[in-house]
Amino acid sequence: MKTLAKLLTCCAISGAGFLSLQTTSYAEDVKIGFVVKQPEEPWFQDEWRFADQAAKEKNFTVVKIGAENGEKVMSAIDNLASQQAQGLVICVPDVKLGPAVVAKSTADHLKLMTVDDQLVDGKGNPISAVPHMGISAHEIGKQVGQAIVDEIKKRGWNMEDVGAIRVTYEQLPTAHDRVTGATEVLLAAGFPKANIIDAPQAKTDTENAFNAANIALTKNPKFQKWVSFGLNDEAVLGAVRAAEGRGFGADKMIGVGIGGAQSAINEFNKPNPTGFFGTVLISPKRHGYETSLLMYNWITQNQEPPKLTLTSGKLMNRDNLKEIRQEFGL
Ligand code: GLA
Repeated sequence: MKTLAKLLTCCAISGAGFLSLQTTSYAEDVKIGFVVKQPEEPWFQDEWRFADQAAKEKNFTVVKIGAENGEKVMSAIDNLASQQAQGLVICVPDVKLGPAVVAKSTADHLKLMTVDDQLVDGKGNPISAVPHMGISAHEIGKQVGQAIVDEIKKRGWNMEDVGAIRVTYEQLPTAHDRVTGATEVLLAAGFPKANIIDAPQAKTDTENAFNAANIALTKNPKFQKWVSFGLNDEAVLGAVRAAEGRGFGADKMIGVGIGGAQSAINEFNKPNPTGFFGTVLISPKRHGYETSLLMYNWITQNQEPPKLTLTSGKLMNRDNLKEIRQEFGL
């Protein structure tokens, strides 16, 4: 098609005919970057998979890049520009990179959209000029809190005897909003504030959550039962593993995560239940497929994506895993 377009250009056919052909050949050349902060995390692998699906359907190219720190983000953007990409969707490793990411993408003439973690400016305010798709963090956090409260009640636990491992990552606003939502619901249900123990993680992976949770457990030997919540499934799985190591198994731990990707599925598929009681399933399809398509439309039709799209989630556990994932088209 490209050769044909060139041929027709040489032959100087009528303006209208040339224009429509040019559009086609341009669409074929569309290349977008999909840059993620933690390529080893199943959530991001799912996003990439759905970005690929969009690319296949619309016949464009997705360049997938893992960028775990600021330096890698900057070189990823330059790399995309040198490959003649026209835009990128990114989940940054540190939202404070916001102004630098905007400046670099602008300088490299790349359209920019963020996914999952919204960029912030020097004052810590969201950079709302960059189109963003994230989860409704506070609402989803509340769903987590409600699931924990319901299960505490179902088991007839006395909240006074229960500790809560709140795995935190305060430098990331979506993490803050998620745990705040969960905390609010717990407190409103009468969970004692003093029983909520912060476990700040240094990085948002299971290992760091495990280390943080271990400290919380060591410092609070008085609790005989635990619940846990945090930014994502990895955070809660870290707490669940740490609790297990001290003898708090499925009957003494109610962990509810956020995500519902492979790490949660593996847990639910274990023959015996673990302390990982449930998760709020969110949609990697929307975050991977839809963002890529929005970027594609922006490049090909100059249709700018909505400034802010917030996606919702649904509580999932080992009993309804298949149905709920199906509902989400997964
Ligand atoms: C953040 C988390 C991920 C995932 C996404 C969802 O980026 O680090 O694990 O929960 O949000 O938007």
